[in-house]
Amino acid sequence: MSNFVQKLCAWQQAHGRHDLPWQSTDPYRVWLSEIMLQQTQVATVIDYYKRFLERFPTISELASAEQSEVMSYWAGLGYYARARNLHRCAQIVVEQYGGVFPREYEDIVALPGIGRSTAHAIMAFCYGAPTPIMDGNVKRLFTRYYGIKGVTSTAAVEKQLWSQAEKTLNEALGDEHTHVDMACYTQALMDFGSLICTRSKPLCDDCPVAGSCYAKTHNLQKELPTSKARKTTPTRHTVMLLLVHDNHIWLEQRPQQGIWSGLLSLPSFDDTEALIHYLQNQGMAINPAKDLIKLAAFEHIFSHFKLHIQPILVKTTGAQSLLDSSSKQGYYHLHSWQTLPIPKPVSTLLETLATTDI
Ligand code: ADE
Repeated sequence: MSNFVQKLCAWQQAHGRHDLPWQSTDPYRVWLSEIMLQQTQVATVIDYYKRFLERFPTISELASAEQSEVMSYWAGLGYYARARNLHRCAQIVVEQYGGVFPREYEDIVALPGIGRSTAHAIMAFCYGAPTPIMDGNVKRLFTRYYGIKGVTSTAAVEKQLWSQAEKTLNEALGDEHTHVDMACYTQALMDFGSLICTRSKPLCDDCPVAGSCYAKTHNLQKELPTSKARKTTPTRHTVMLLLVHDNHIWLEQRPQQGIWSGLLSLPSFDDTEALIHYLQNQGMAINPAKDLIKLAAFEHIFSHFKLHIQPILVKTTGAQSLLDSSSKQGYYHLHSWQTLPIPKPVSTLLETLATTDI
């Protein structure tokens, strides 16, 4: 009898989450939610997920959409490679599988943006397959419960965690007295890590497996999982141009390489000199001391660096020659950019601008 699996399933039935909008056996819904949840919290994902599914109710509809429209439904969630992969993946499912999500693990894990754990989650939720999962929440639970030491992102510890997850599940599956509901156990692993075995101040008093937990027994909840040696995050600097003309804002498409690739954004520069150069190259007569208005600088955190953003407002009068109708760049109305694929810190800036008297 595997107490661990059984107790987690019982906990899930009594205290886990049962009303998340993606809880179903439909692979499209499970896949979409798993991709959104990879780097984003449940509370944030719910609205994005609903809006996305309303606009793209089937894999075929997602596949045939323009990439820029898909990106606009992802705007604000970050990690935009996820959306590009999702779109490509939908196209592959249509081209290679006639629009029906594949059932075989090998086919699923070969799709863009789908790794081992996501493929296992789809297999477990949709087909009841006996496959374990391993994400950040599960890593925390397993390192504590089994006393697995070492940094969880290293290959050696990751391997140890996967083999423990398989062992735990196989013990339960091999026990003729235990029926394992894979969807329930998989959701239990996800919910337990975020509701009970939390990063700080885990709720050990409410934990059904606390009696056999290594960390609880040795009072090592704070030490496990082992934290990474703290590296100082490098800071990059950018100057963003808010070029405003008669209640309109100049936006242009980001290059295909680098951060926010393909999204619409404000023209960005390494420094103010480069910004002035840009304006002069466009034939604008500006007086830097008078025409450049420095707004409050702020930081945006990426996974590997911080971006220090200095917004500079330039108000122009009269028609400017900057407009280029051949590309997506141009002046957008200050109240009508909300449906465009714009990165979060830029949309925050535009919101401020739209509500400020300029
Ligand atoms: N995190 C990843 N997948 C999840 C799910 N299905 N429910 C809740 N949190 C999750």
